[in-house]
Amino acid sequence: MIIIVVVLLVLSSFLMNTLYSYLFDRKKMEVLTNANIIASIISENFTDEYINLRLPQLPLEKNARAIVVNTDSTVMYDSYKVTSIKDKTFINAAITDALLADGKNSSNAYKENGNWFIDAAVPIIKNAQTIGAVYLIQSGDSTEDTILHIRNALFMLGGLIIVFVGIFSASMASLLTLPIERFTKFINNMPKDSLQHVPVTSRDEIGQLAIAFNSLIDRMAEVEDKRKVFVSNASHELKTPLSIIKLLSDSLIQTENPDPEFIKEFLTDMNKEVERLTRIIEKLLNMTQMDSSQANMQFIHADVRSIVQEIYEKLIPLARNKDIELTLIQPDDEVILPIEQDTLTEAIYNIADNSIKYTEPGGKVDISVSRDLGNVYIDVSDTGIGIPKEEVQKIFDRFYRVDKARARETGGSGLGLSIALDAVKLHNGHIEVKSEEEAGSRFTIALPYSEESL
Ligand SMILES: Nc1ncnc2c1ncn2[C@@H]1O[C@H](COP(=O)(O)OP(=O)(O)OP(=O)(O)O)[C@@H](O)[C@H]1O
Ligand SMILES: [Mg+2]
Repeated sequence: MIIIVVVLLVLSSFLMNTLYSYLFDRKKMEVLTNANIIASIISENFTDEYINLRLPQLPLEKNARAIVVNTDSTVMYDSYKVTSIKDKTFINAAITDALLADGKNSSNAYKENGNWFIDAAVPIIKNAQTIGAVYLIQSGDSTEDTILHIRNALFMLGGLIIVFVGIFSASMASLLTLPIERFTKFINNMPKDSLQHVPVTSRDEIGQLAIAFNSLIDRMAEVEDKRKVFVSNASHELKTPLSIIKLLSDSLIQTENPDPEFIKEFLTDMNKEVERLTRIIEKLLNMTQMDSSQANMQFIHADVRSIVQEIYEKLIPLARNKDIELTLIQPDDEVILPIEQDTLTEAIYNIADNSIKYTEPGGKVDISVSRDLGNVYIDVSDTGIGIPKEEVQKIFDRFYRVDKARARETGGSGLGLSIALDAVKLHNGHIEVKSEEEAGSRFTIALPYSEESL
Protein backbone atom coordinates (compact mmCIF):
# COMPACT_ATOMS: atom_id res chain seq x y z
CA MET A 1 0.00 0.00 0.00
CA ILE A 2 2.77 2.41 1.00
CA ILE A 3 4.67 1.68 -2.21
CA ILE A 4 1.58 2.26 -4.29
CA VAL A 5 0.72 5.54 -2.54
CA VAL A 6 4.31 6.78 -2.96
CA VAL A 7 4.39 5.77 -6.63
CA LEU A 8 1.04 7.48 -7.26
CA LEU A 9 2.21 10.67 -5.55
CA VAL A 10 5.49 10.80 -7.47
CA LEU A 11 3.75 9.98 -10.73
CA SER A 12 0.99 12.56 -10.31
CA SER A 13 3.34 15.35 -9.23
CA PHE A 14 5.52 14.63 -12.26
CA LEU A 15 2.45 14.58 -14.48
CA MET A 16 1.13 17.86 -13.04
CA ASN A 17 4.49 19.59 -13.53
CA THR A 18 4.74 18.45 -17.11
CA LEU A 19 1.16 19.49 -17.76
CA TYR A 20 1.72 22.93 -16.23
CA SER A 21 4.75 23.72 -18.30
CA TYR A 22 3.25 22.25 -21.47
CA LEU A 23 -0.06 24.10 -21.30
CA PHE A 24 1.46 27.42 -20.22
CA ASP A 25 4.20 27.18 -22.86
CA ARG A 26 1.54 26.64 -25.48
CA LYS A 27 -0.46 29.56 -24.19
CA LYS A 28 2.65 31.78 -24.17
CA MET A 29 3.38 30.84 -27.79
CA GLU A 30 -0.20 31.63 -28.72
CA VAL A 31 -0.12 35.08 -27.09
CA LEU A 32 3.26 35.81 -28.69
CA THR A 33 1.97 34.81 -32.12
CA ASN A 34 -1.07 37.03 -31.72
CA ALA A 35 1.11 39.97 -30.65
CA ASN A 36 3.32 39.37 -33.69
CA ILE A 37 0.32 39.29 -36.00
CA ILE A 38 -0.85 42.63 -34.57
CA ALA A 39 2.66 44.08 -34.91
CA SER A 40 2.97 43.00 -38.51
CA ILE A 41 -0.47 44.39 -39.39
CA ILE A 42 0.20 47.81 -37.98
CA SER A 43 3.81 48.04 -39.10
CA GLU A 44 2.46 48.76 -42.61
CA ASN A 45 0.86 51.96 -41.53
CA PHE A 46 1.98 53.11 -38.13
CA THR A 47 -0.36 55.99 -37.65
CA ASP A 48 -2.86 56.79 -34.89
CA GLU A 49 -5.84 56.69 -37.27
CA TYR A 50 -4.93 53.43 -38.89
CA ILE A 51 -4.18 51.73 -35.61
CA ASN A 52 -7.37 52.90 -33.93
CA LEU A 53 -9.36 51.91 -36.99
CA ARG A 54 -7.78 48.59 -37.74
CA LEU A 55 -7.11 47.06 -34.37
CA PRO A 56 -10.71 47.03 -33.00
CA GLN A 57 -11.58 44.87 -36.02
CA LEU A 58 -9.18 42.15 -34.99
CA PRO A 59 -10.77 39.26 -33.12
CA LEU A 60 -9.07 39.28 -29.70
CA GLU A 61 -9.72 36.66 -27.11
CA LYS A 62 -12.15 37.60 -24.32
CA ASN A 63 -10.27 39.24 -21.44
CA ALA A 64 -7.31 39.93 -23.68
CA ARG A 65 -5.91 43.47 -23.68
CA ALA A 66 -3.78 44.81 -26.50
CA ILE A 67 -1.68 47.94 -26.00
CA VAL A 68 0.41 49.62 -28.66
CA VAL A 69 3.16 52.05 -27.67
CA ASN A 70 5.49 54.16 -29.72
CA THR A 71 9.21 54.38 -29.08
CA ASP A 72 8.60 56.85 -26.21
CA SER A 73 6.40 54.31 -24.51
CA THR A 74 3.37 56.50 -25.05
CA VAL A 75 0.24 54.43 -25.49
CA MET A 76 -1.20 54.83 -28.99
CA TYR A 77 -3.89 52.23 -28.63
CA ASP A 78 -5.53 50.36 -25.74
CA SER A 79 -8.20 47.77 -26.45
CA TYR A 80 -9.70 48.38 -22.98
CA LYS A 81 -11.98 51.31 -23.37
CA VAL A 82 -13.19 51.65 -19.77
CA THR A 83 -9.81 51.92 -18.06
CA SER A 84 -8.00 53.10 -21.14
CA ILE A 85 -4.47 54.44 -20.70
CA LYS A 86 -4.29 55.92 -24.22
CA ASP A 87 -1.80 58.76 -24.54
CA LYS A 88 -0.27 57.89 -21.20
CA THR A 89 3.16 56.47 -20.73
CA PHE A 90 3.27 52.72 -20.17
CA ILE A 91 6.50 51.08 -19.19
CA ASN A 92 7.28 47.61 -18.11
CA ALA A 93 10.31 45.34 -18.48
CA ALA A 94 8.89 43.46 -21.45
CA ILE A 95 8.10 46.63 -23.37
CA THR A 96 11.46 48.14 -22.55
CA ASP A 97 13.13 45.01 -23.95
CA ALA A 98 11.00 45.17 -27.08
CA LEU A 99 11.79 48.83 -27.67
CA LEU A 100 15.56 48.30 -27.54
CA ALA A 101 17.45 48.71 -30.77
CA ASP A 102 17.52 44.98 -31.43
CA GLY A 103 14.00 44.62 -30.00
CA LYS A 104 13.27 41.32 -28.41
CA ASN A 105 10.16 39.18 -28.34
CA SER A 106 9.23 38.07 -24.86
CA SER A 107 6.41 36.19 -23.27
CA ASN A 108 5.71 35.42 -19.61
CA ALA A 109 3.24 33.62 -17.45
CA TYR A 110 2.80 34.85 -13.89
CA LYS A 111 0.39 34.79 -11.01
CA GLU A 112 -0.86 37.97 -9.44
CA ASN A 113 -3.43 38.24 -6.65
CA GLY A 114 -4.31 34.59 -7.18
CA ASN A 115 -4.91 34.95 -10.92
CA TRP A 116 -2.78 33.74 -13.78
CA PHE A 117 -1.71 36.10 -16.54
CA ILE A 118 0.15 35.53 -19.75
CA ASP A 119 1.65 38.48 -21.53
CA ALA A 120 3.84 39.08 -24.55
CA ALA A 121 5.68 42.12 -25.91
CA VAL A 122 6.98 42.31 -29.47
CA PRO A 123 8.69 45.19 -31.30
CA ILE A 124 7.02 46.77 -34.33
CA ILE A 125 9.69 46.93 -36.96
CA LYS A 126 9.68 48.86 -40.16
CA ASN A 127 12.65 49.08 -42.49
CA ALA A 128 14.77 47.34 -39.86
CA GLN A 129 13.86 50.04 -37.33
CA THR A 130 11.87 49.60 -34.15
CA ILE A 131 9.07 52.04 -34.34
CA GLY A 132 7.01 50.85 -31.42
CA ALA A 133 5.83 47.79 -29.51
CA VAL A 134 2.75 45.67 -29.09
CA TYR A 135 1.92 44.45 -25.61
CA LEU A 136 -0.69 41.71 -25.30
CA ILE A 137 -1.90 40.42 -21.95
CA GLN A 138 -4.41 37.65 -21.43
CA SER A 139 -5.89 35.75 -18.48
CA GLY A 140 -4.36 32.31 -17.83
CA ASP A 141 -7.21 31.21 -15.61
CA SER A 142 -8.77 28.95 -18.23
CA THR A 143 -5.45 27.13 -18.56
CA GLU A 144 -5.26 26.74 -14.82
CA ASP A 145 -8.86 25.54 -14.75
CA THR A 146 -7.96 22.82 -17.23
CA ILE A 147 -5.02 21.79 -15.07
CA LEU A 148 -7.13 21.81 -11.91
CA HIS A 149 -9.71 19.73 -13.66
CA ILE A 150 -7.13 17.15 -14.69
CA ARG A 151 -5.64 17.21 -11.18
CA ASN A 152 -9.01 16.48 -9.59
CA ALA A 153 -9.59 13.64 -12.01
CA LEU A 154 -6.14 12.28 -11.13
CA PHE A 155 -6.91 12.50 -7.40
CA MET A 156 -10.16 10.64 -7.91
CA LEU A 157 -8.44 7.96 -9.94
CA GLY A 158 -5.61 7.68 -7.36
CA GLY A 159 -8.15 7.38 -4.55
CA LEU A 160 -10.01 4.68 -6.42
CA ILE A 161 -6.77 2.79 -7.10
CA ILE A 162 -5.77 2.98 -3.43
CA VAL A 163 -9.17 1.78 -2.22
CA PHE A 164 -9.20 -1.05 -4.77
CA VAL A 165 -5.61 -2.13 -4.03
CA GLY A 166 -6.28 -1.85 -0.30
CA ILE A 167 -9.30 -4.14 -0.46
CA PHE A 168 -7.51 -6.53 -2.81
CA SER A 169 -4.29 -6.77 -0.77
CA ALA A 170 -6.13 -7.08 2.54
CA SER A 171 -8.20 -9.97 1.23
CA MET A 172 -5.15 -11.60 -0.41
CA ALA A 173 -3.17 -11.27 2.83
CA SER A 174 -5.89 -12.87 4.90
CA LEU A 175 -6.30 -15.57 2.27
CA LEU A 176 -2.57 -16.34 2.51
CA THR A 177 -2.24 -16.11 6.27
CA LEU A 178 -5.41 -17.97 7.13
CA PRO A 179 -3.90 -21.46 6.60
CA ILE A 180 -0.79 -20.43 8.57
CA GLU A 181 -2.97 -19.15 11.38
CA ARG A 182 -4.98 -22.38 11.34
CA PHE A 183 -1.71 -24.36 11.36
CA THR A 184 -0.29 -22.40 14.31
CA LYS A 185 -3.56 -22.72 16.21
CA PHE A 186 -3.59 -26.47 15.67
CA ILE A 187 -0.03 -26.79 17.02
CA ASN A 188 -0.76 -24.54 19.99
CA ASN A 189 -3.90 -26.47 20.85
CA MET A 190 -2.23 -29.87 20.57
CA PRO A 191 -2.54 -31.70 23.92
CA LYS A 192 0.76 -31.64 25.80
CA ASP A 193 0.93 -35.40 26.21
CA SER A 194 0.24 -36.46 22.65
CA LEU A 195 1.73 -35.85 19.24
CA GLN A 196 -0.87 -35.42 16.52
CA HIS A 197 -0.74 -35.06 12.75
CA VAL A 198 -1.91 -31.76 11.28
CA PRO A 199 -4.56 -32.22 8.59
CA VAL A 200 -3.08 -31.70 5.11
CA THR A 201 -5.69 -29.67 3.24
CA SER A 202 -3.76 -28.36 0.24
CA ARG A 203 -0.86 -29.19 -2.01
CA ASP A 204 0.76 -25.77 -1.89
CA GLU A 205 3.66 -24.66 0.34
CA ILE A 206 1.47 -24.82 3.44
CA GLY A 207 0.47 -28.36 2.51
CA GLN A 208 4.12 -29.29 2.11
CA LEU A 209 4.93 -27.68 5.43
CA ALA A 210 2.16 -29.76 7.00
CA ILE A 211 3.59 -32.94 5.44
CA ALA A 212 7.09 -32.07 6.70
CA PHE A 213 5.65 -31.30 10.13
CA ASN A 214 3.85 -34.65 10.20
CA SER A 215 6.99 -36.54 9.31
CA LEU A 216 8.79 -34.69 12.12
CA ILE A 217 5.97 -35.76 14.45
CA ASP A 218 6.46 -39.38 13.28
CA ARG A 219 10.17 -39.22 13.98
CA MET A 220 9.57 -37.67 17.39
CA ALA A 221 7.03 -40.36 18.20
CA GLU A 222 9.56 -43.01 17.17
CA VAL A 223 12.24 -41.48 19.40
CA GLU A 224 9.73 -41.20 22.21
CA ASP A 225 8.77 -44.88 21.83
CA LYS A 226 12.43 -45.89 21.89
CA ARG A 227 12.98 -43.77 24.96
CA LYS A 228 10.03 -45.37 26.74
CA VAL A 229 11.24 -48.88 25.88
CA PHE A 230 14.74 -47.95 27.01
CA VAL A 231 13.60 -46.50 30.32
CA SER A 232 11.35 -49.46 31.07
CA ASN A 233 14.09 -51.94 30.09
CA ALA A 234 16.70 -50.09 32.09
CA SER A 235 14.51 -49.93 35.20
CA HIS A 236 13.66 -53.59 34.81
CA GLU A 237 17.33 -54.54 34.46
CA LEU A 238 18.27 -52.50 37.50
CA LYS A 239 15.37 -53.84 39.51
CA THR A 240 16.12 -57.53 38.98
CA PRO A 241 19.45 -57.62 40.86
CA LEU A 242 18.01 -55.34 43.52
CA SER A 243 15.08 -57.70 44.13
CA ILE A 244 17.47 -60.62 44.38
CA ILE A 245 19.61 -58.73 46.90
CA LYS A 246 16.47 -57.84 48.83
CA LEU A 247 15.29 -61.46 48.79
CA LEU A 248 18.65 -62.77 49.96
CA SER A 249 19.04 -60.18 52.70
CA ASP A 250 15.44 -60.77 53.90
CA SER A 251 16.00 -64.47 54.25
CA LEU A 252 19.31 -63.86 56.02
CA ILE A 253 17.59 -61.52 58.48
CA GLN A 254 14.78 -63.97 59.10
CA THR A 255 17.02 -66.96 59.65
CA GLU A 256 17.82 -67.34 63.31
CA ASN A 257 21.41 -68.17 64.13
CA PRO A 258 22.47 -68.87 60.55
CA ASP A 259 25.69 -70.83 60.25
CA PRO A 260 28.69 -69.04 58.79
CA GLU A 261 28.69 -71.22 55.68
CA PHE A 262 25.14 -70.14 54.95
CA ILE A 263 25.94 -66.47 55.54
CA LYS A 264 28.96 -66.68 53.27
CA GLU A 265 26.96 -68.30 50.51
CA PHE A 266 24.27 -65.64 50.70
CA LEU A 267 26.75 -62.82 50.85
CA THR A 268 28.61 -64.25 47.84
CA ASP A 269 25.35 -64.30 45.87
CA MET A 270 24.55 -60.79 46.95
CA ASN A 271 28.01 -59.67 45.97
CA LYS A 272 27.52 -61.15 42.51
CA GLU A 273 24.32 -59.17 42.09
CA VAL A 274 26.01 -55.98 43.23
CA GLU A 275 28.75 -56.60 40.66
CA ARG A 276 26.11 -57.12 38.03
CA LEU A 277 24.38 -53.88 38.99
CA THR A 278 27.68 -52.03 38.82
CA ARG A 279 28.37 -53.47 35.38
CA ILE A 280 24.98 -52.44 34.05
CA ILE A 281 25.31 -48.93 35.43
CA GLU A 282 28.81 -48.62 34.01
CA LYS A 283 27.54 -49.65 30.60
CA LEU A 284 24.59 -47.29 30.79
CA LEU A 285 26.92 -44.45 31.68
CA ASN A 286 29.22 -45.40 28.86
CA MET A 287 26.31 -45.37 26.44
CA THR A 288 24.89 -42.01 27.46
CA GLN A 289 28.36 -40.56 27.34
CA MET A 290 28.69 -41.72 23.75
CA ASP A 291 25.27 -40.23 22.96
CA SER A 292 26.03 -36.86 24.45
CA SER A 293 29.71 -36.18 24.01
CA GLN A 294 30.29 -37.03 20.38
CA ALA A 295 31.59 -33.52 19.85
CA ASN A 296 34.27 -33.96 22.48
CA MET A 297 35.59 -37.20 21.08
CA GLN A 298 39.16 -37.20 19.96
CA PHE A 299 39.95 -38.96 16.76
CA ILE A 300 43.63 -39.67 16.39
CA HIS A 301 45.63 -41.70 13.91
CA ALA A 302 46.48 -44.99 15.57
CA ASP A 303 47.46 -48.52 14.63
CA VAL A 304 44.38 -50.74 14.87
CA ARG A 305 46.71 -53.72 15.37
CA SER A 306 47.92 -52.46 18.75
CA ILE A 307 44.35 -51.96 19.98
CA VAL A 308 43.37 -55.47 18.95
CA GLN A 309 46.58 -56.84 20.49
CA GLU A 310 45.70 -55.23 23.83
CA ILE A 311 42.18 -56.65 23.76
CA TYR A 312 43.55 -60.08 22.88
CA GLU A 313 45.87 -60.02 25.86
CA LYS A 314 43.07 -58.97 28.18
CA LEU A 315 40.91 -61.85 26.95
CA ILE A 316 43.54 -64.61 27.26
CA PRO A 317 42.80 -65.36 30.94
CA LEU A 318 39.02 -65.42 30.27
CA ALA A 319 39.50 -67.86 27.39
CA ARG A 320 41.89 -70.00 29.41
CA ASN A 321 39.36 -70.22 32.28
CA LYS A 322 36.75 -71.53 29.87
CA ASP A 323 39.20 -73.79 28.09
CA ILE A 324 38.71 -71.92 24.81
CA GLU A 325 41.41 -71.65 22.20
CA LEU A 326 41.88 -67.96 21.40
CA THR A 327 43.92 -66.95 18.34
CA LEU A 328 44.88 -63.64 16.78
CA ILE A 329 45.94 -63.03 13.19
CA GLN A 330 47.34 -59.58 12.36
CA PRO A 331 48.81 -58.21 9.12
CA ASP A 332 52.54 -57.43 9.12
CA ASP A 333 52.07 -53.79 8.01
CA GLU A 334 50.70 -51.05 10.16
CA VAL A 335 46.93 -50.40 9.91
CA ILE A 336 46.70 -46.71 10.65
CA LEU A 337 43.22 -45.12 10.87
CA PRO A 338 41.75 -42.00 12.43
CA ILE A 339 39.96 -43.53 15.42
CA GLU A 340 38.54 -42.74 18.81
CA GLN A 341 40.57 -45.26 20.79
CA ASP A 342 38.34 -45.79 23.82
CA THR A 343 35.08 -46.32 21.97
CA LEU A 344 36.63 -48.56 19.33
CA THR A 345 38.36 -50.65 22.01
CA GLU A 346 35.03 -51.01 23.80
CA ALA A 347 33.33 -52.15 20.58
CA ILE A 348 35.89 -54.81 19.69
CA TYR A 349 36.14 -55.96 23.29
CA ASN A 350 32.35 -56.38 23.62
CA ILE A 351 32.19 -58.51 20.48
CA ALA A 352 35.18 -60.68 21.38
CA ASP A 353 33.92 -61.00 24.97
CA ASN A 354 30.58 -62.26 23.63
CA SER A 355 32.32 -64.88 21.51
CA ILE A 356 34.07 -66.28 24.55
CA LYS A 357 30.92 -65.99 26.66
CA TYR A 358 28.68 -67.77 24.16
CA THR A 359 31.09 -70.57 23.23
CA GLU A 360 31.14 -73.84 25.12
CA PRO A 361 34.42 -75.01 26.72
CA GLY A 362 36.67 -76.66 24.19
CA GLY A 363 35.59 -74.28 21.44
CA LYS A 364 37.59 -71.80 19.41
CA VAL A 365 37.56 -68.03 19.04
CA ASP A 366 39.56 -66.35 16.24
CA ILE A 367 40.28 -62.65 15.99
CA SER A 368 41.81 -61.22 12.83
CA VAL A 369 42.58 -57.84 11.30
CA SER A 370 42.68 -57.35 7.53
CA ARG A 371 42.13 -54.63 4.96
CA ASP A 372 41.19 -54.05 1.35
CA LEU A 373 41.16 -50.89 -0.74
CA GLY A 374 38.32 -49.17 1.10
CA ASN A 375 37.95 -50.82 4.51
CA VAL A 376 39.74 -52.20 7.50
CA TYR A 377 38.07 -55.33 8.85
CA ILE A 378 38.17 -56.67 12.38
CA ASP A 379 36.82 -60.16 12.35
CA VAL A 380 35.76 -62.20 15.40
CA SER A 381 34.53 -65.74 14.80
CA ASP A 382 33.65 -68.48 17.24
CA THR A 383 32.43 -72.04 17.34
CA GLY A 384 29.79 -71.15 19.90
CA ILE A 385 26.07 -71.60 20.34
CA GLY A 386 25.16 -69.33 17.42
CA ILE A 387 22.18 -67.03 17.08
CA PRO A 388 18.78 -68.03 15.63
CA LYS A 389 18.21 -66.31 12.25
CA GLU A 390 15.18 -64.35 13.40
CA GLU A 391 17.09 -62.95 16.36
CA VAL A 392 20.16 -61.66 14.50
CA GLN A 393 18.58 -58.25 13.78
CA LYS A 394 17.52 -57.76 17.39
CA ILE A 395 20.78 -58.50 19.19
CA PHE A 396 21.94 -54.91 18.62
CA ASP A 397 18.90 -53.50 20.44
CA ARG A 398 19.52 -52.17 23.89
CA PHE A 399 18.96 -54.81 26.61
CA TYR A 400 18.16 -57.49 24.06
CA ARG A 401 19.36 -61.00 24.91
CA VAL A 402 18.54 -64.15 23.00
CA ASP A 403 18.40 -66.55 25.87
CA LYS A 404 17.34 -64.65 28.97
CA ALA A 405 17.92 -67.57 31.33
CA ARG A 406 21.42 -68.23 30.08
CA ALA A 407 22.16 -64.53 30.12
CA ARG A 408 21.43 -64.44 33.81
CA GLU A 409 24.06 -67.10 34.31
CA THR A 410 26.59 -65.32 32.12
CA GLY A 411 25.76 -62.00 33.75
CA GLY A 412 24.94 -60.27 30.48
CA SER A 413 22.89 -57.10 30.43
CA GLY A 414 22.16 -56.98 26.69
CA LEU A 415 23.93 -53.66 26.23
CA GLY A 416 27.31 -54.80 24.88
CA LEU A 417 26.40 -55.04 21.20
CA SER A 418 24.33 -51.87 21.21
CA ILE A 419 27.34 -50.00 22.59
CA ALA A 420 29.58 -51.67 20.00
CA LEU A 421 27.28 -50.66 17.15
CA ASP A 422 27.11 -47.04 18.35
CA ALA A 423 30.88 -46.92 18.52
CA VAL A 424 31.35 -48.39 15.06
CA LYS A 425 28.77 -46.02 13.57
CA LEU A 426 30.72 -43.18 15.11
CA HIS A 427 33.57 -44.30 12.86
CA ASN A 428 31.18 -44.42 9.87
CA GLY A 429 31.54 -48.19 9.85
CA HIS A 430 29.15 -51.10 10.13
CA ILE A 431 28.94 -54.55 11.68
CA GLU A 432 28.09 -57.69 9.77
CA VAL A 433 26.87 -60.86 11.49
CA LYS A 434 26.86 -64.38 10.13
CA SER A 435 25.68 -67.03 12.49
CA GLU A 436 24.45 -70.57 12.54
CA GLU A 437 22.87 -72.16 15.57
CA GLU A 438 25.05 -74.75 17.32
CA ALA A 439 27.82 -74.02 14.77
CA GLY A 440 29.12 -70.57 15.61
CA SER A 441 29.02 -66.89 14.77
CA ARG A 442 31.17 -64.45 12.89
CA PHE A 443 31.08 -60.71 13.65
CA THR A 444 32.87 -58.40 11.21
CA ILE A 445 33.49 -54.75 11.98
CA ALA A 446 34.17 -52.81 8.75
CA LEU A 447 35.78 -49.38 9.13
CA PRO A 448 35.97 -47.36 5.91
CA TYR A 449 38.99 -45.20 5.12
CA SER A 450 39.94 -42.94 2.28
CA GLU A 451 43.41 -41.87 1.22
CA GLU A 452 42.67 -38.30 2.42
CA SER A 453 41.68 -39.49 5.89
CA LEU A 454 45.07 -41.18 6.38
N1 LIG B 1 29.03 -64.60 19.68
C1 LIG B 1 27.77 -64.82 20.03
N2 LIG B 1 27.25 -66.06 19.99
C2 LIG B 1 25.98 -66.29 20.36
N3 LIG B 1 25.11 -65.34 20.77
C3 LIG B 1 25.58 -64.10 20.86
C4 LIG B 1 26.92 -63.78 20.50
N4 LIG B 1 27.08 -62.45 20.67
C5 LIG B 1 25.88 -61.98 21.13
N5 LIG B 1 25.00 -62.95 21.26
C6 LIG B 1 23.58 -62.82 21.71
O1 LIG B 1 23.22 -61.46 21.60
C7 LIG B 1 22.78 -60.98 22.87
C8 LIG B 1 23.17 -59.53 23.01
O2 LIG B 1 24.55 -59.38 23.21
P1 LIG B 1 25.12 -58.20 24.07
O3 LIG B 1 26.59 -58.25 24.04
O4 LIG B 1 24.45 -57.00 23.59
O5 LIG B 1 24.58 -58.48 25.50
P2 LIG B 1 25.14 -59.48 26.59
O6 LIG B 1 26.36 -60.12 26.13
O7 LIG B 1 23.98 -60.38 26.94
O8 LIG B 1 25.40 -58.53 27.81
P3 LIG B 1 26.62 -57.53 28.03
O9 LIG B 1 25.96 -56.22 28.12
O10 LIG B 1 27.25 -57.94 29.26
O11 LIG B 1 27.49 -57.68 26.82
C9 LIG B 1 23.40 -61.85 23.87
O12 LIG B 1 22.63 -61.90 25.04
C10 LIG B 1 23.43 -63.20 23.16
O13 LIG B 1 22.18 -63.82 23.32
MG1 LIG C 1 28.00 -58.93 25.48
